[in-house]
Amino acid sequence: MNKYLIAFAVYASVACANVFGQDIDQEIESKIEVILNRLTLEEKVKMCHAQSKFSSAGVERLGIPEIWMSDGPHGVRAEIEWDSWNYAGWTNDSCTAFPALTCLAATFNPELSYKYGLAVGEEARYRKKDILLGPGVNIYRTPLNGRNFEYMGEDPHLASVMCVPYIKGVQTNGVAACVKHYVLNNQEVWRSHINVQLSDRALHEIYLPAFKAAVEEGDVWSIMGAYNKYNGQHTSHHDVLINDILKGDWGFDGVVVTDWGSAHDTKEAALNGLDIEMGTGTDGLTSSTENAYDYYYLAKPFLEMIKSGEIDESVVDDKVRRILRLMYRTNMDTKRPHGRKGNKEHFDVAREVAQEGIVLLKNHKAFFPLDAETTKTIAVIGENATRMMTLGGGSSELKTIHEISPLEGIQKQFSKANIIHSMGYASGASAYGRVIPSKLNANKLKKEAVEVAKQADIVLFVGGLNKNHEQDCENGDRLGLNLPFGQDELLDEIMAVNKNTAVILVSGNAVAMPWQNKAKAIVQAWYLGSETGHALADVISGDVNPSGKLPFTFPVKLEDNGAHAFDELSYPGDGNDQVYKEDILVGYRWHDTKKIKPLYEFGFGLSYSSFSISGASSDQKAYKAGDVIKVDVEIKNTSKVLGAEVVQVYVHDEDASLMRPEKELKAFTKVKLEGGETQTVQLEIPASALAFYDEKINDWNLETGKYSLMIGTSSRDIKETIEIEIK
Ligand code: GLC
Repeated sequence: MNKYLIAFAVYASVACANVFGQDIDQEIESKIEVILNRLTLEEKVKMCHAQSKFSSAGVERLGIPEIWMSDGPHGVRAEIEWDSWNYAGWTNDSCTAFPALTCLAATFNPELSYKYGLAVGEEARYRKKDILLGPGVNIYRTPLNGRNFEYMGEDPHLASVMCVPYIKGVQTNGVAACVKHYVLNNQEVWRSHINVQLSDRALHEIYLPAFKAAVEEGDVWSIMGAYNKYNGQHTSHHDVLINDILKGDWGFDGVVVTDWGSAHDTKEAALNGLDIEMGTGTDGLTSSTENAYDYYYLAKPFLEMIKSGEIDESVVDDKVRRILRLMYRTNMDTKRPHGRKGNKEHFDVAREVAQEGIVLLKNHKAFFPLDAETTKTIAVIGENATRMMTLGGGSSELKTIHEISPLEGIQKQFSKANIIHSMGYASGASAYGRVIPSKLNANKLKKEAVEVAKQADIVLFVGGLNKNHEQDCENGDRLGLNLPFGQDELLDEIMAVNKNTAVILVSGNAVAMPWQNKAKAIVQAWYLGSETGHALADVISGDVNPSGKLPFTFPVKLEDNGAHAFDELSYPGDGNDQVYKEDILVGYRWHDTKKIKPLYEFGFGLSYSSFSISGASSDQKAYKAGDVIKVDVEIKNTSKVLGAEVVQVYVHDEDASLMRPEKELKAFTKVKLEGGETQTVQLEIPASALAFYDEKINDWNLETGKYSLMIGTSSRDIKETIEIEIK
């Protein structure tokens, strides 16, 4: 191609990129064109697929580097062998384990999300990873999904607001975030092929927003397709999802990678916007066969199709342009910062996110905070008091430098008390996809625990779920809503002998609580990572005032949840097809519209402080499209204790021409207040956020009429309601 054509190509690519509003660096684009014209066809194709388990090829001849990727969302995974799923056994790849993203979402604190992304990205940079495979933002549709712990809850606005700063933080390090799994991977059962069907409205109002925010606001540099199908086509190479929506409407200028082994067809992968095929093997090959990578869909078969003219060379050129653009943002950016890992600041961030994400669900007669001076004998009962939770769970598992267990944290914090631990129950182990029950005698464990409970002033039961198969773990879903391993029965026996029992749940999912009214206090403690025990003790001792809010609903029973209110086609599907029959009514949208009282609602969380909200007002009475609605609210800390509250604004369309949820979260802000302090906070809601996705026009529709703005401290604890109008 002569230099005039190159110049034109540069101009054209920059012009169209600007049309989509991406801030394309023109100098980089011209460099990309020069490189593109020096690459052979074979070299281009090699860049579009894996060369090892976690890397794709560069071009040594031209000094173009390989791209190295690593899991995961909560920290940088230990090094894996070149061509197997075994760990490489390095001794210098331990990391800081940050809390699971459900915990980050529960902080409702975007500033903290940026700090989290910056820290985990710094560790990825240090480990010389160019793409960090996270954050996951799949919507929490069912409490049984094994991977909910890796995601950011049931509400698209919360997931959108909380994923953007994480992405910016990671990418500040010159490491690409990789938002996943695009899209509709909302369960693990049959994840490799289940064909999800749902209304366009539910797709756009519930499942796409967080990905859209990641691209349009987070400027994410890569995105991972999902395993499942949507409307009959695999999402990792999907014409509508990738060509029309992602790269078309949203103007995504980065790289689409598969999930591992989620490509299934060369022509679709080529023409439907897949840029790098990663995986475990393909074409039915097993996990590691000599030269498996040459047989990937975007390897030899792709090369043959281009050579035969069946696919135009411009198709591979677009992929390589995107890959080179990601390289200029990462491993070819000579100015990108250096990384570091396992340093004090990172553990401090992990602890801060854990402290702010812990949710106090019940606190009868101020059971917490425990007075470290006067509390004599504390029984700490439950396997989760000592069980490592950074191991297991699938691809997000970590080899962490340290993980302070709940027991260790409590022992350290309450060093004057007499602390007795009893395991109480045993969960056994699990290999990938298999449950291995414990050989310990469950009755003996229970008896010992009840004996210990009898002797104690108070009992801290530390239970919940864990990272075993069919718990909070990839590649399988839970089998029911109740606590596993006999915990409900054990709790009944413990509470029968000791009334002063608090329950601390270590989990990433909602659970049923048949013992709820007998528990003196209940704490939702997520998978908190390296600083688990410290953060938990900080909160139950009162050193830290809890401020977390639930990012998803706790239903009383499974059938109260929208996904489980229909038949098996709704969940888990019939083995091939699945229909999201609850449509847009996911989570609290279902509970509040269908008037089904939850056990604990979305956005709920107690504090050691108390707050009052008053004087809500909007800056105008009427708005039109393009306006920003400003809501002022006065919030007062009516206690003597420094604390934080999350002011939430939910919207209801009073004059809707069609079914709309009872309420939808459209703004929130976390406010820290000294005892007695009052602040006026202002929340902004773009009028466009009140629109619904109209299938008649395949676009968003902001209807005129009256809307209620409900201001509260949870989705059900609404303190003030103001009315506005859209003209
Ligand atoms: C796994 C997961 C994905 C992960 C990838 C690499 O199957 O679905 O989240 O990043 O493969 O381990």
